[in-house]
Amino acid sequence: MLHLDDARAKHARSVKHRAIRRLVLFFGVIIAVGIAVAFGGIIDFNPRDLQHELKGTGPLAPIIYMLISGALGAVFVPGPVFAIGAGLLFGPWLGIPVGLGGAVVSALICREIGVHMGRSAAEELAGARLGQMTAWLDRYGAVAVIAFRLMPAMPDAPLNYAAGLTRLKRWQIAVGTAVGSIPRTLGWGLVGSTAGGGNGWQAAVGFTLIVGADAGGVVAAILIARHLGMTPKALWRKLRGAPAEHASPNLPTMRIAIDGPAGAGKSTVARLVAERLEYTYLDTGAMYRCAALASLRGVQAPGDIDVDFDANGSVQLDGEDVSLLIRTPEVTSLASQLAAEPSVREGLVARQRELMAEGDWVAEGRDVGTVVVPDAELKVFLDADPLERAERRAAQLGADVREILAQQQERDERDRTRLTSPLKAADDAVILDTTGLSIEQVVDRIADLARERVTPAG
Ligand code: DC
Repeated sequence: MLHLDDARAKHARSVKHRAIRRLVLFFGVIIAVGIAVAFGGIIDFNPRDLQHELKGTGPLAPIIYMLISGALGAVFVPGPVFAIGAGLLFGPWLGIPVGLGGAVVSALICREIGVHMGRSAAEELAGARLGQMTAWLDRYGAVAVIAFRLMPAMPDAPLNYAAGLTRLKRWQIAVGTAVGSIPRTLGWGLVGSTAGGGNGWQAAVGFTLIVGADAGGVVAAILIARHLGMTPKALWRKLRGAPAEHASPNLPTMRIAIDGPAGAGKSTVARLVAERLEYTYLDTGAMYRCAALASLRGVQAPGDIDVDFDANGSVQLDGEDVSLLIRTPEVTSLASQLAAEPSVREGLVARQRELMAEGDWVAEGRDVGTVVVPDAELKVFLDADPLERAERRAAQLGADVREILAQQQERDERDRTRLTSPLKAADDAVILDTTGLSIEQVVDRIADLARERVTPAG
């Protein structure tokens, strides 16, 4: 049977419980320190007396303020609260750097939690899977931190935890957070300083800055989305971790590998299975096709190309939508030849693994179950009678069956006999012969297999 065995379910539960225990301990300490500081006389939280008292504490007060606001930020107290507080307590000139300092401390605390406690703990905290955010942070570094910070309504803490799960260095997080937080910290800081006795114009400038930053963020998001060929909503979903947001928290993360020869119905079936289970679909063949297109355009190292998929499923090569360009006969034939090149496979397999490092995926290709993710939770090898496969393709393309059959045989032969990652079923793959089956029947079967995998044996 395909049930997830008891031991694995038990292990998953114990890992989860351990993460929760550590988090309770961690935040217990933070809250205890906060209470000690608040009621132990180090800081009196009465805002009226506070400004006066702070003058006597010298450089300690801003530092304590930054540390406390940083710690509370890590437990989801919103950033504007601290920026307003800093402006109110320290006035605009000192308050704004203190507010920025608090944002940086918070980002660094979250980073340490992310690094030391791992993804599951960070996900417990962030409430939602961190999805695409980590991939973008890894890819664009401090620039992504700045961009995320500038986005309107982007909550601070999940972003901070996401950054802690990436390869970003502390300085990148610190610089990105400080720079990206400037407009809103400045705005809220000025509002706070007015509340603390400053001029009315400060509040007016502050609100203008906040509204301006939000409006600027919306316009920037629309322009970026347009540049990437996506709708702003799709970009937003992707940034907020769309690949994983559908996943039921009760199910373990699942990667479904669907391999098989051309025309076995992999892409149609994989796309529909992904839709049905609300997983993300990955067409690895499209990546080899992009390599072929890049090579035809004169790129010397087609394994190093930058391929991405947007939320609508279109294929992006270096930011250009090439969904249609990669389906020409010329590209199709060269893709199969390039797919035999170890250097090309190495680059593209690394990118596929990077994409599938988190979230739930249905990936289809030739070597997904054997090479890309040999530990995939479900592997399916789709096959069908060669003539039926050729007939399906010919109907799809409106082409001659004999011609398609000849090309298909040539490609199958090359894919099966190449030395690197030849097309073959993984030993533990479920072989599904789709000859005579409808697409609906195949999708039903794979969705059933997936559900059986994640149903603990009872
Ligand atoms: O699935 P497709 O026809 O779009 O794939 C294009 C080519 O890429 C095909 O000749 C096989 C090759 N390929 C591969 O070698 N490994 C994969 N994982 C996916 C595709």
